[in-house]
Amino acid sequence: MNYDEFYRKSIDDKVGFWSEQALKLAWYKAPQKILSKDKNGFYRWFRGGKLNTGYLALDYHIEHGRGKQTAFIYDSPVTDTIKKFTYNQTKRQVAKIAGALKSLGVNKGDTVVIYMPMIPEATFSMLACARIGAIHSVVFGGFAPHELAIRIDDAKPKVIISASCGIEFDKVIPYKPLLDDAINQSEHQPANCLILQRPMCEASLVENRDLDFEQLVAASKPAKCVRVDATDPLYILYTSGTTGKPKGVVRDNGGHAVAMRFSMEYVYNVKAGDVFWAASDVGWVVGHSYIVYAPLIMGCTSIIFEGKPIRTPNAGTFWRVIAQHKVNTFFTAPTAFRAIRKEDPEALFMNKYNLNSLKAIFVAGERCDPPTLEWLQNISKLPVIDHWWQTETGWSIVANMMGVEQFDVKAGSATKPVCGYDVQILSEKGRKLGKNKEGYVAIKLPLPPGTLPTLWNDNERFKHSYLKKFKGYYLSGDGGYIDQDGYVFIMGRVDDVINVAGHRLSTGEMEEIIGYHPAVAESAVIGITDELRGQRPIGFVVLKDGKNIEESQIERDLIGLIRDKIGAVAFFRNALVVKRLPKTRSGKILRKTMRQIVDGEAFTIPSTIDDVNILNEIEECIKSRNIGVYCNDLKQHS
Ligand code: COA
Ligand code: AMP
Repeated sequence: MNYDEFYRKSIDDKVGFWSEQALKLAWYKAPQKILSKDKNGFYRWFRGGKLNTGYLALDYHIEHGRGKQTAFIYDSPVTDTIKKFTYNQTKRQVAKIAGALKSLGVNKGDTVVIYMPMIPEATFSMLACARIGAIHSVVFGGFAPHELAIRIDDAKPKVIISASCGIEFDKVIPYKPLLDDAINQSEHQPANCLILQRPMCEASLVENRDLDFEQLVAASKPAKCVRVDATDPLYILYTSGTTGKPKGVVRDNGGHAVAMRFSMEYVYNVKAGDVFWAASDVGWVVGHSYIVYAPLIMGCTSIIFEGKPIRTPNAGTFWRVIAQHKVNTFFTAPTAFRAIRKEDPEALFMNKYNLNSLKAIFVAGERCDPPTLEWLQNISKLPVIDHWWQTETGWSIVANMMGVEQFDVKAGSATKPVCGYDVQILSEKGRKLGKNKEGYVAIKLPLPPGTLPTLWNDNERFKHSYLKKFKGYYLSGDGGYIDQDGYVFIMGRVDDVINVAGHRLSTGEMEEIIGYHPAVAESAVIGITDELRGQRPIGFVVLKDGKNIEESQIERDLIGLIRDKIGAVAFFRNALVVKRLPKTRSGKILRKTMRQIVDGEAFTIPSTIDDVNILNEIEECIKSRNIGVYCNDLKQHS
């Protein structure tokens, strides 16, 4: 197939293109209107269509002879467990969890928060919600109670599903105290919590509120699939914005199912029966789309991996899983490969395994730095595909569409726009920029199916955050350029969002949290280059007059504060006290210039700066602490 033709059709004849793709799914009732606008003026896909995402993921395949095929493989090096679940077994389990939820009064349109580690019950619970039309909101297990509380207050779940603990390398992390703390902090109170007791750590249950997951599920009747509208929400997934309040990205049922199936066939070049492994976490969008929904909608086998790329037990774990389960397509974040490369640069572990089943490796979550890409290409001799996407879109915006036409890879580029995404580079004033000119990466509306129709209970924020800056476009928040061959290069965020080890975090939120410290007058948190994690946050703080607190003490306080409020995943390790922050004459903090100084990049001194000497003070400060460009030894970051 020819990419140019296929792509052009998706842009020039959107309705024709997507109605053809929609026909590949088993709808209860076909959509009446392929593309329309709702009362808020937002685009909606497949209005009038009736379906059930849980049915498409499980029942449909069982009805078509896949009942005995493995749906999920749970591979957990941290508990030394491997378990397989066929489509039949998965459906039975999911239907019973759905029944348990119904017995607690959860019905179509109700919300359920899921706060769980990477265990099969997490994915089963998501599918159980989909089965009864309930809206799940999965919260990443690495988030602290404060973050969980914010999400509980916004999503207002009737029920929260959790587990007694997670496992990080060899550390057991009790989840239940975190959940109890979060519920104490939140205004909204769930009627019930369903707690899965894991043998390595039993949780105590709160009377009249908490229930034992296994007992209730065992005693429940299986629930049937409920018909929902294509435009009904399937899930809410919170993601970091520029403030302390995360954005509740809404995913609808119809557009999502069409997009998931489409991406499996045309982006990943996968067919039913293949083994597809996304080594991510169900708390992130990659986990939602490519551990749970897309592989199952496509009739594949998916892997639930409870482990890390290294030290569980070694840097060969990924290769072991690929060989043992005959994985055909593998997907993870570049940071995972940087961790493996650091421990096993010669890929000695890889050579121990037979990786013949593997056809391609996909990476996303952050820009794949050229050295990591080249290393991976060399050691694997396979296509390594960097593709760009966001929580908001739920699937890739720019990729080498392997099921359409394979292009040469250019290191640093995610290749070309995926069907349905009209990607443009715009100037500050919204003018289209020419080839190789860097600017805002924007997508001409409408976005394709599967992308966010709005934010949960916040249409105004949706408009303000994404649609207002450039009329008729979606603002991605990333900067980049398109070269003479049409390859898109994503160069990083242009807002206060950073990516730490593939985890999307808000520096704006960190500044808000730091602001609670009684000695801090103001602060600037910036994301600096980190060899392993891609980026990590550091803070510059100005103390209030008269606050004579030791620099080491304030740094300890602020590290503790961020860990306590956001979680250890924020990896906030440095807070530097400065006399002032560099600002423009109108008072805007020059965060970009600060980041350039720390990373040792060339920069032009902004003409609007109020006092140029402050930049030298910043430089002196990082020099004295051996940070950024002055740090040659990565180890001291950790
Ligand atoms: N639950 C609880 N804590 C978590 C956690 C989770 N799910 N994930 C991370 N943490 C904690 C870690 O235990 C660590 O805590 P510590 O400071 O007490 O040691 C802290 O957060 C920082 O973690 P991280 O930055 O991940 O460093 P690490 O040394 O533990 O691991 C990597 C480094 C590269 C192995 C790890 O980041 C990794 O596997 N990255 C890939 C991430 C990924 O796949 N993202 C996909 C998104 S698409
Ligand atoms: P998330 O919503 O957590 O998936 O994070 C989305 C952000 O991660 C994007 O806006 C980008 O900044 C970054 N990102 C994800 N994938 C890529 C990629 N392949 N190349 C460059 N940046 C990426």
